[in-house]
Parts: sequence; C-alpha cells; structure tokens
Amino acid sequence: MTYRQAAKFYDLFGSKNDVDFYRGLALQCGNRALEIGVGTGRLAIPLAQAGITVVGIDNSIHMLRWARTKLAEESQLVRKHVVLKKGDMRNFDLGLSFPFIYLPASTFDHNTTAEEQNQTLDCVHKHLEKNGVFAFDLEQVRVDAPLNSWWIDRRRVGRRRMVVRSIFTRRDLKKNVCTLDLFFDIYENGRFDERYHEYGDVAIIGKDQIIKLLEQNHFTIENIYGDFDLSRHRKMSPKLVLVTRRV
Ligand SMILES: C[S@@+](CC[C@H](N)C(=O)[O-])C[C@H]1O[C@@H](n2cnc3c(N)ncnc32)[C@H](O)[C@@H]1O
Repeated sequence: MTYRQAAKFYDLFGSKNDVDFYRGLALQCGNRALEIGVGTGRLAIPLAQAGITVVGIDNSIHMLRWARTKLAEESQLVRKHVVLKKGDMRNFDLGLSFPFIYLPASTFDHNTTAEEQNQTLDCVHKHLEKNGVFAFDLEQVRVDAPLNSWWIDRRRVGRRRMVVRSIFTRRDLKKNVCTLDLFFDIYENGRFDERYHEYGDVAIIGKDQIIKLLEQNHFTIENIYGDFDLSRHRKMSPKLVLVTRRV
C-alpha cells in the first residue's frame, strides 16, 4: 500500500487507544525513540509533546507530507523533538541507536513474507541499544471470522462533507495473507462527488509464529498483551501487543 489516497483520510478514521501505552513505554526508556512507519505522526506528535525526541521513518511520501503539515502547527519545541525521514523498515540504516523502538498500528503486518519479517527485525535489532525495548502490535484474526468480510464507516467533515470508508478483506489461509481494498467515497451536500481506492496485502501472524521469529532474531519477550488495556492475550483477543528487549 502506498497510502497515496488513504493518507488524507488516515487521521479521520485513525483514532486508536494506543497513545498512553506507547508514550508510557517511551518515557520509561528515556527520552529518545524511533517510530517505524510513523505515518501522519498520530503517535509521534503526542510523544514529542511529552518531551520525547522521536525519529520517525516511513516509506510513504504521502503520509510523511501529512505528518509535516501537522507538525508545522505545533510549537517550536515540539517541532524540534520530531525528525521525519523516508525509509523502508526492511532496509534502513540511520547510523543511530535508540533505547526504545516502536512499530505501532499493526504496521509489522505489512511484511507479508518471512524474509521481509526477518529483514525488519534485523533492522530493528541494529538500531536498538543493548537491553533496549522494542514494542509493537499485530492485528489478530479470530479463528471463527469469515474468510471474506467488509465494513463501512463514515465521518462528517464540516457541515457539507461526508467521507464513507468501505473496507473489503479476503483471507488467503494458505499464504496467511489478507488482501484489503479500501474505498473512500466523498459526498458533498449529500451528493456523491468522488471515490478514492487503495489496496494491498497484510500478513496474518499468530502468537507462536511471532514468538519464534523474535527469538530467532535475538529478542527476549517481556510481556504479551491482548490489547492496550494490558489484558492477558487469549485466543479471542483483538490484538497481540508485544514488549520485547534486545538480548
Ligand atoms: C497503519 S499506518 C500506521 C501509521 C502510524 N504509525 C500510526 O500509528 O498512526 C502504517 C504506516 O506504515 C508505513 N509503512 C508501510 N510499509 C512500510 C515499510 N516497508 N517501511 C516503512 N514504512 C512503511 C505506511 O506508509 C503507513 O504510514
């Protein structure tokens, strides 16, 4: 996914309950963090407001553009705390190491092959200080979930505009991949105006698989949660939230 079309709607539909979790961990680890797949700065900006210096990388120029636009509205102090760079999580070298790295909003799922997953974990490992913390979350698909599904959501923008987002998903059980199609339909004064389409694949990664990958890549697991409320991970949990440490 390039997020070319989705970038401008990301924050409109993007509210999540993960800010306290990632900000809390970042503060415990010191005052510097690396966010991989920083997107529109949805998390990087609140972390910077808390005094943490965040380096954020992303491979979508469209998402980075939105992050820069949002950052321009922040105070000089907050702006100084955020550094945005274009980079691919599977292959980047910042020449820096961090006490805390986070990869939020199921972004690790964008790695659809074992090779890409290993490349990303290798890059994280190289950028993490010894004993540094790496936290991330994965979407969990319930075993009883249908193979094909869709959901529709909408948001009002101002008095005249309505954005309707439809997401269609198809699960490929052999490849453990979910194919997504996102449509954004824009209505002005109740009349259809235009449609944007975005599509891509995301991996379906289970608990045993990610634990094995992390161990192979020299991370120890500190905590596994089922959601950002820090509940225990169970079969039916909506998320897999992992807190790991570099060996
Ligand atoms: C679900 S969004 C999360 C954005 C932000 N971290 C947040 O929590 O709101 C995923 C982000 O990861 C970025 N991304 C996807 N694949 C990537 C890759 N290979 N390298 C770097 N960034 C990537 C996308 O461009 C997008 O901005």
